[in-house]
Amino acid sequence: MTVSLRPYLPSDAQRVADIFVASIEEIASEDYSAAQCEAWARAVDDPAFAKRLAGNLTLVGLVDGEVAGFLTLKGADVIDLLYVHPQFSRQKVATTLCDAIEKLSGARGAKQLSVDASDTAQPFFARRGYVPERRNTIVVEDQWLGNTTMRKTLAANDDGAPAGRRLQ
Ligand SMILES: CC(C)(COP(=O)(O)OP(=O)(O)OC[C@H]1O[C@@H](n2cnc3c(N)ncnc32)[C@H](O)[C@@H]1OP(=O)(O)O)[C@@H](O)C(=O)NCCC(=O)NCCS
Repeated sequence: MTVSLRPYLPSDAQRVADIFVASIEEIASEDYSAAQCEAWARAVDDPAFAKRLAGNLTLVGLVDGEVAGFLTLKGADVIDLLYVHPQFSRQKVATTLCDAIEKLSGARGAKQLSVDASDTAQPFFARRGYVPERRNTIVVEDQWLGNTTMRKTLAANDDGAPAGRRLQ
């Protein structure tokens, strides 16, 4: 199965919202209570959600032309959103998205990437070399959700080009 990537387009908004809700309801629900998942998924209705997609670098992963998952990079070095539709779970969609964003961030000069990983995503990031740093509790509506700040040091840019000529 091949996963292809492209930048997020405004016309992806509905599909991406559907992926966000389905992945929380069907995947993250293994690790969080129903009430926690409902509060988490309702973020999709907040206008701030659309801003997080359109205002950051967002990549979508496609399988057979269908958007299967998405990732947003906040600023230079923070993975903000990473969600894969349950139908495409464990088919390396998130891996392909993260491979690309790590390369892109490294080429732009980022030395490391961090993420506030859900308990569901923690094994995924751990396998990629992200190291847990701190446990957090965030409040969403009336619910308390745990996540873990994880960080990965990116490999040095070894393309041999002088810094000024590297991809910006
Ligand atoms: C976490 C998530 C993004 C992973 O997406 P994915 O496309 O299924 O992940 P990949 O197929 O690229 O997984 C690569 C490897 O990561 C690890 N991994 C991924 N999901 C895992 C899980 N639920 N439990 C344990 N290991 C997992 C496995 O080692 C996997 O390799 P394998 O399938 O050969 O064993 C997806 O499960 C998801 O959307 N979860 C719900 C939303 C969420 O919590 N998002 C993160 C917010 S920070």
